[in-house]
Amino acid sequence: MNFNLTEEQQAVRDAAREFAEKELLPGVIERDNEQRFPTEEIKKMGELGFMGMMVDPKYGGGGMDSVSYVLAMEEISKIDASASVCMSVNNSLVCWGIEKFGTEEQKQKYLPKLTSGEWIGGFCLSEPEAGSDATSQRTTAEDKGDHYLLNGTKNWITNGNSGSVFLVMAQTNPEKKHKGINCLIVEKDMEGFTVGKKEDKLGIRGSDTHSLMFTDVKVPKENRIGEDGFGFTFAMSTLNGGRIGIASQALGIASGALERSIAYSKERKAFGKEISQHQAIQFKLADMATKVEAARLLCLKAAVLKDQEQDYSQASAMAKLYASEVAMANAVEAVQIHGGYGYVKEYHVERMLRDAKITQIYEGTSEIQKIVISRGLLK
Ligand code: CAA
Ligand code: FAD
Repeated sequence: MNFNLTEEQQAVRDAAREFAEKELLPGVIERDNEQRFPTEEIKKMGELGFMGMMVDPKYGGGGMDSVSYVLAMEEISKIDASASVCMSVNNSLVCWGIEKFGTEEQKQKYLPKLTSGEWIGGFCLSEPEAGSDATSQRTTAEDKGDHYLLNGTKNWITNGNSGSVFLVMAQTNPEKKHKGINCLIVEKDMEGFTVGKKEDKLGIRGSDTHSLMFTDVKVPKENRIGEDGFGFTFAMSTLNGGRIGIASQALGIASGALERSIAYSKERKAFGKEISQHQAIQFKLADMATKVEAARLLCLKAAVLKDQEQDYSQASAMAKLYASEVAMANAVEAVQIHGGYGYVKEYHVERMLRDAKITQIYEGTSEIQKIVISRGLLK
């Protein structure tokens, strides 16, 4: 077993770190305060190749492996988890979903725009009454011969306002239950598409989360991904990879909290010495670092399995379950290590604590990851 990164993987990680520190860090507190989407920053991420990292270069992508994606996600998430959720959804749900399961026409039409940052993508599975219980889709896609008539509401959609193209799961044949669900590619300017209210969130406040409404939206048949009834399998297969992205986001929050804690503990003095000289702080740092290392290994294992085209559904669920717990634990400890300064915005760790919580909720709550993992064990 070789734990060394290739030169290319190291270069990707270093480029992501440099970008995050130079371009994302300066405005991150203001964007969080103002709930402002990082529009210009995401454009630059597209230009640098971070929005379609794993896509084949013939569609404008970076042709990179999933390990490089984990490394870049960690670095971007250390600084700005709002930018990184946009990156994760675009890369591992939307681009991957279209490239893996789309037609050649769909790939040519959508991937170059999505990889370059010209367009941002969204993934619409959740509904007011279908979150964890994702098979209970109420949104309908009525088959009208050459098109589907789409009606319903999707909730909590990341990139809801900034996105231009959305993968929308909807029920066509309710009698077939989840095997009646289709995935349709829906463009924002299609008639009958409305962007609903923006959510006022605890964390990732720079990310724009909206409900989306569809009223008699005519979606051409050629916008369906896969065979009739493939939509739920599509959503689940895509989420297996998406969960590697969110696990890496959680890893980045956890390792960012550790890095800030190490730096601060070497500066801050109490009782005549740096607080890093107190064993209570040293032990906190040791625990935080051990958890980061374990979370990183789980993320990288899931990525390697994906790159090797082995089954990675359980590995990605484990990575997300554990890394999101570590993000929360390390963010709490980082605030504690910073004392009162940790409780105010200037020192970043209070935002990390608020941002960490969502990683235990979206792309399947921790409880849902445990269902996925235990079903794998018991089948
Ligand atoms: N990979 C592949 N297939 C899967 C799968 C997985 N991880 N999980 C379930 N499936 C398949 C099953 O094999 C089954 O297929 P067949 O009928 O062909 O055998 C089908 O899906 C239905 O599965 P179940 O019978 O297990 O259905 P269920 O209703 O008991 O539970 C669930 C399924 C795992 C709980 C699923 O509903 C789930 O994952 N829920 C969470 C939803 C979720 O993750 N939402 C995220 C929205 S996107 C998002 O959040 C983005 C963001 O924030 C940034
Ligand atoms: P519920 O399903 O109602 O769950 C409530 C609680 O019950 C949870 O603790 C859950 O774990 C628990 N629970 C439910 N069922 C079980 C069970 N069988 N066993 C044990 N416990 C259970 N969705 C998208 O489709 N696209 C997006 O881009 C997107 N972005 C999001 C961004 C944000 C900021 C947020 C908050 C959500 C986003 N979501 C998105 C939705 C997210 O995926 C759901 O919120 C999540 O899947 C949980 O669904 P729910 O909120 O309906 O909670």
